[in-house]
Amino acid sequence: MKAMILEAYGKEPVAVEFPDPVPGPDEVLVRVRATSINPIDWKQGSGKFRPILTASFPFIAGYDLAGEVEALGPGVTGFTKGQRVHTRLSGRDGGASATLVKAGLDVLCAMPEGMDFEQAAGLPLAGMTALQGLRDVGGLPMTGASKRVLVVGASGGVGHFGVQIAKSMGAHVTGVCSERNAALVRRLGADAIVDYTKPNAYAGVAPFDLVLDCVGSAPGDFLEKLVTGGIFASCVPGAAVFARQAINMLSSKKVLPVMLKANAADLAVLDGLFAKKQLEVVIDSRYPSEQLGEAWKRSASGRSAGKIIVTW
Ligand SMILES: NC(=O)c1ccc[n+]([C@@H]2O[C@H](COP(=O)([O-])OP(=O)(O)OC[C@H]3O[C@@H](n4cnc5c(N)ncnc54)[C@H](OP(=O)(O)O)[C@@H]3O)[C@@H](O)[C@H]2O)c1
Repeated sequence: MKAMILEAYGKEPVAVEFPDPVPGPDEVLVRVRATSINPIDWKQGSGKFRPILTASFPFIAGYDLAGEVEALGPGVTGFTKGQRVHTRLSGRDGGASATLVKAGLDVLCAMPEGMDFEQAAGLPLAGMTALQGLRDVGGLPMTGASKRVLVVGASGGVGHFGVQIAKSMGAHVTGVCSERNAALVRRLGADAIVDYTKPNAYAGVAPFDLVLDCVGSAPGDFLEKLVTGGIFASCVPGAAVFARQAINMLSSKKVLPVMLKANAADLAVLDGLFAKKQLEVVIDSRYPSEQLGEAWKRSASGRSAGKIIVTW
């Protein structure tokens, strides 16, 4: 198989041939057709986020992939050779940036009808983060969520799913994005837009029951925009989030981290929304696998709208 590997932190990914992997029990081998970039890929490869995010070398980065089942591990049932599947690989060891990848059954789903490999690769990590941020951390029910939700970073990978999932739940959604992405975020269902590049951008739009922050905002900037009992859910939790979380019991407003737990059941929920045409995977750009480093640069620019796809 071919893999794009890093030989050390901060290096460019290069193509290397390896022996084909052999799936174990509870695994299938997937012939990869598309992967998607998430910021964790290049953050992990850069080494700048050690010791929280480490890599062992040679490192095959990436977590999201879609492809066809190439082989089943011993005793595996429920999938068939040639079946179209997608996943966010489990754990924190990456492994997606290769032509053949072992995937655990606990995180693997058959692709729904009408979904192509690029869409299927773009959905898992960012989609599950948005779903879990809204439902598990934010406490929104899957239907009848008559709440006011603010999605900060509404045009990004996580945020553009957050807008759509919150709408499918029944929420009133305000999307925070720049002017050039406003039409996209509105098309995805946002009821209102805040252009974060403008002065007094938030005048007249608060309060919110839930803020889903996808850009690493300071919680203190949003607490006054929450109702009593409101939640600030951070997908980019840093020291300020954890410090404020430690004193949640002293306040009627909660600050909570979103920490993705990849699992097949939640990916199936997202696939269901896609099948009902309530969820669209917006593609920012596409790169061939040999240009994985360029795809990372696009992601690291912080300007992508939707998902960056790598084709294999
Ligand atoms: N905790 C977890 O489990 C978890 C899981 C997934 C992701 N994450 C983290 O969540 C973050 C977002 O991931 P992502 O994949 O959504 O990133 P992304 O796709 O790279 O986000 C890029 C988007 O962010 C927008 N943006 C940048 N600054 C903004 C601001 N101040 N206000 C509003 N929008 C802004 C950009 O729009 P403009 O170009 O218009 O500025 C762009 O569309 C990353 O830090 C990632 O590491 C965490």
